Amino acid sequence: MNLSEHQQLDETYLLQNYGRRLPLAFVSGDGCYLYDSAGRRYLDWLAGIAVNTLGYAHPQLTAALTAQIGALLHSSNYFLIEPQIRLGQRLVELSGLDRAFFCNSGCEANEALLKFARLWNGAQVGEGRRTGVLAFEGSFHGRTLATLSATGQAKIQKGLAPLVPGFQHVPFNDLAAARAAVDDSIGAVLVETIQGEGGIHVATPEFLVGLRQLCDERGILLLLDEVQCGLGRTGSFFAYQQYGLQPDALALAKGLGGGVPIGAVVMTQAVADCVTPGTHGTTFGGNYLASRAGLTVVETMLAEDLVAHAASVGERLLAGLQQLAATHPLADHARGRGLMLALELTAEKAAAVRDACAERGLILNAVSPTALRILPPLVLRAEQVDEGLALLNDALAAV
Ligand SMILES: Cc1ncc(COP(=O)(O)O)c(C=O)c1O
Repeated sequence: MNLSEHQQLDETYLLQNYGRRLPLAFVSGDGCYLYDSAGRRYLDWLAGIAVNTLGYAHPQLTAALTAQIGALLHSSNYFLIEPQIRLGQRLVELSGLDRAFFCNSGCEANEALLKFARLWNGAQVGEGRRTGVLAFEGSFHGRTLATLSATGQAKIQKGLAPLVPGFQHVPFNDLAAARAAVDDSIGAVLVETIQGEGGIHVATPEFLVGLRQLCDERGILLLLDEVQCGLGRTGSFFAYQQYGLQPDALALAKGLGGGVPIGAVVMTQAVADCVTPGTHGTTFGGNYLASRAGLTVVETMLAEDLVAHAASVGERLLAGLQQLAATHPLADHARGRGLMLALELTAEKAAAVRDACAERGLILNAVSPTALRILPPLVLRAEQVDEGLALLNDALAAV
């Protein structure tokens, strides 16, 4: 199918909810490169929005999934599932938390967090009490009714009233506002360690450590949404590990399956004790295919030391972006951590720069009218940092 056929059939048959801005269709990938139907090569600095942790066609993932497909794709959570158990063990060991639950996406992981918070608070103070959740402006937690209600962005909630009640939003990185908002109705604080869709904003240590203290003082749960920032992207296996604290429960998805849909919640024993048989579940969650993918991603990350690698190539990339900000009038500043970065522009030209990058063979994303977001596969090599910076430099000059 050529590109115009793709577009025409997409517009005829598919729900037009994505507003696809780049007329591109990829047919294969290799390492950090994508190839379109015309055979053109693109350096990928987006990784399917922080999903393709190991890049494309990674031999370990291909071999593991091929073997799993030939053996068994799905049984049911009625039965024991070896790769699910092994992946759960890995996530527990790596997080220092106690138990894992598997689902299929980021919003489902956050839905589970919200349900577990209700069950836990119900057990502490009685069902129907302390059901409120404090969340933050600029956050993104998903598109289901509860998770879009938790999301602190009016554009995500537009047209969908009435929202699920109980969510309060205060400014991100404003501990005093959070303290003032937590009253007896609040049973949990839900926060991204690094806001992704909100534009790559890193929680300050004072803020995150302060939220942990606040939750401890009030006897409520700290729930971290690491759907985008977890899994090695920021230079530690989980982003919170750079803050010297533990959450009560943690949501993961995106990068965990390396392209195969999977979500997870990892939690303390105290939370797990409230989630008894029958209170939560999912047909596909942690099935053979998804959990084999997750297990292979995690084991390959450890074997190839990709967490330290993300930190070091991330430093090179951040320095290069800062250099661009120092030289281009259109580039204002760079921010982020590891391989979760943004370049803020001085004008609302992020979409134009994104398009100019794509024309030059570099894929990245406009996360706001003024900010470019960069989320490469963790296998990005130093020379691919330099290659992408040269293309971005050229694109900035052309816009
Ligand atoms: C921090 C965060 N939470 C939740 C989600 C929702 O994940 P999904 O699209 O897999 O439902 C996203 C997706 O962008 C996200 O970035």
